[in-house]
Amino acid sequence: MTGNVNASLGVVSAQLLRGQKALVTGANSGIGLATAIALGRAGADVVVNYVVGADEADEVVKQIEGFGVRAYAHQADVSDEDQVVAMVARMVEEFGTIDIMVANAGLQRDADVTEMTLAQWQKVIDVNLTGQFLCAREAAKEFIRRGVVEEVSRSAGKIISMSSVHQIVPWSGHVNYASSKGGVAMLMQTLAQELAPKRIRVNAIAPGAVRTPINRDAWSTPEAEADLLRLIPYRRVGEPDDIANAVVAVASDLLDYVVGTTLYVDGGMTLFPGFATGG
Ligand code: BGC
Repeated sequence: MTGNVNASLGVVSAQLLRGQKALVTGANSGIGLATAIALGRAGADVVVNYVVGADEADEVVKQIEGFGVRAYAHQADVSDEDQVVAMVARMVEEFGTIDIMVANAGLQRDADVTEMTLAQWQKVIDVNLTGQFLCAREAAKEFIRRGVVEEVSRSAGKIISMSSVHQIVPWSGHVNYASSKGGVAMLMQTLAQELAPKRIRVNAIAPGAVRTPINRDAWSTPEAEADLLRLIPYRRVGEPDDIANAVVAVASDLLDYVVGTTLYVDGGMTLFPGFATGG
């Protein structure tokens, strides 16, 4: 997306999340980075979580502070219970509360099933699925303790789960990742059902192929990108801002009645593009 588009988005969205406190996991690169910045641009104070890459996290904090809101970086491994508990406790201390939890941190450890080690399987489940459980749990406790504050938002809190098209699209060579995202879909729906009566909205964003370090091999050469575009009816690779803008929308009161939904932001990747020419 161009700077101009973002500048006008800034004007439109500057009030959307005013006064809200957001935490984004994995916010020092890719989708998380763009999301943290977009939330700041929309008026939220932001905690920039990272696990490695303190310099990048500090850079994100500086950019967010440029919007006149507060931000700080916090190192924590989302798959470590004590670290997640401490991260949310510190946020409540520093910012007073949390309104938006973006459970974004995720990784891939790809291998054919016959080559996949238990460590590769476990790492992906730990970060992508258990990490989201821990972050959602800690946020939900604070949302319930505080309840709705009408001047801030119509809901008591929002949990936004970063999923993937692979929550429904099987992915050969990535059984750990696809299984983690299939789990994320059910985690999100079950939490949405359980927490909705407490006025907490839980939803997921399911990105398709987005230009980030996680899938660099898929877009970094013209041949790879051409191959990838065959899977995307809209014929462009997604940009991190495409996802970040969706997060801002789902987090805002504009979408206050959206509960337990997955928003696919994928250029049509889930439309069975292989069937466009036959079947
Ligand atoms: C994966 C990417 C992949 C995309 C579409 C994402 O969830 O992390 O590596 O390019 O799905 O297949």
